[in-house]
This record gives sequence, structure tokens and C-alpha cells, in this order.
Amino acid sequence: MSAELKLAAMAEPMIAPSILAADFARLAEEAAAVAGSDWLHVDVMDNHFVPNLTLGLPVVESLLAATDIPLDCHLMIEDPARWAPPYAEAGAYNVTFHAEATDDPVAVARDIRAAGAKAGLSVKPGTPIEPYLEILPHFDTLLVMSVEPGFGGQKFIPDVLTKVAAVRRLVDAGELSIVVEIDGGINADTIEAAAEAGVDCFVAGSAVFGAADPARAVAMLRRQAAAAAPATP
Ligand code: DX5
Ligand code: ZN
Repeated sequence: MSAELKLAAMAEPMIAPSILAADFARLAEEAAAVAGSDWLHVDVMDNHFVPNLTLGLPVVESLLAATDIPLDCHLMIEDPARWAPPYAEAGAYNVTFHAEATDDPVAVARDIRAAGAKAGLSVKPGTPIEPYLEILPHFDTLLVMSVEPGFGGQKFIPDVLTKVAAVRRLVDAGELSIVVEIDGGINADTIEAAAEAGVDCFVAGSAVFGAADPARAVAMLRRQAAAAAPATP
């Protein structure tokens, strides 16, 4: 295969800047600063599922009116059965909740999809993926946490890439269709390993909003991921 064909065969990596690292008083401007992004990642924390409190539905509704970038809502909350569907009803593009937070993830995914959004399942670094493989067809995205959820600016945990690789194998074998997303500690030093393991969508908070030029940081991360990604079989 020629180099050109190989490049064409590779899906363009997606970058989702996390507004957790943005200025919460200037969210519309911060969203505009990363206009070329694929998704805007919104971390919702309830101080119960994680030991931190961020924002909720009213802020997401305002953000939806302020940007055209599809919102990727990452709910780090208890009781997603109750709280997740309203984010979909409000117009979020993707609504992800945690496997550890519910006994019936399939029912929550069904409600999110019925309300018009993509449904995402997230797993903490210590949560194995095997018990969830058979329910992944009910989801559009799998968010593999590469730090303990709760805070930005933490160090990437490379061990989680075995989960990425396991799901990537199923996707490449045609047994599953899902976007594999990674979240936590993604930056210029870590994105290549994640891309090699088969990540489709990269969340980055401090590496984007901590940069002098956030749009340039997004473009550079995307280029790095594209160069490191294995060719699609
Ligand atoms: C952590 C959040 C992440 C966080 C990532 O619980 O889910 O989305 O914003 O921040 P960085 O990229 O700085 O690790
Ligand atoms: Zn997140």
C-alpha cells in the first residue's frame, strides 16, 4: 500500500478538550478558542461519586447555546439513571456515565439514546473491561479513564491501554462498533502510546487550556495521534 493510501485508510483522530482546565467564568470564549475540536468534553462531578464538585445541567444548557462544538458530557455522578437522560434531552451530543455508578448500565444507555444522544460507558483505571464487553453494543462510546476521575492535571496511567487494545481488537475484527475514548493525563508525551493502542478520541484538559495557544495545541495533538495510530486493517 502506498503511503498516501495508508494515510487515507487511517481514521482522523478526534480531540476533545476538557473544559475542566478552562476558565469557568469565560466558558463561551474558551469554547471559541478550541473551535476546531471534534467534541468539547464537559466534566460533571457531584462530590459523591468523586471527591470534587464542578457543574451541572444549567451550565451545560448555557454552553449548548454558546458553541457549535458537540458536547461530550462525562458524568462522574451517582444515580446516572436519574440524572443522565436530561443531558441528552438538553442536546448534548454524547452522554457518558460510569459503569461503577449503576447496576443497570444498559437501561441507562437505552434512556440516553431514546432522548437523542450517543451513550457512553466509562470505566475507572482499576475497573476491568471484561465484565462489560458483552454490553458494549448498547453504547456508542467507551471512555477509558487513564487517571482516577475527579481532578485534571494528573499523571497518565499507561496500564489502562491493555483495555483499549482489547476493545480495539474487537472493533478491528468487526465484532463491535464503538468509539474508544481516553481521558486523563493526555499530552504530547503520552498521546502516541494511546494512539498506538487504538484510541479514537483523546480528551485533553491541561494540555490544551494550559497552552498559550489552545487551538494550536489541539492541532498538534491531533497530528501526533495521527502519525502514531496503526493503519486501519
Ligand atoms: C478527570 C476528568 C478529565 C480531566 C482531564 O476526572 O475526567 O476529563 O479534565 O484533565 P487532564 O487532561 O488535565 O488530565
Ligand atoms: Zn472527563
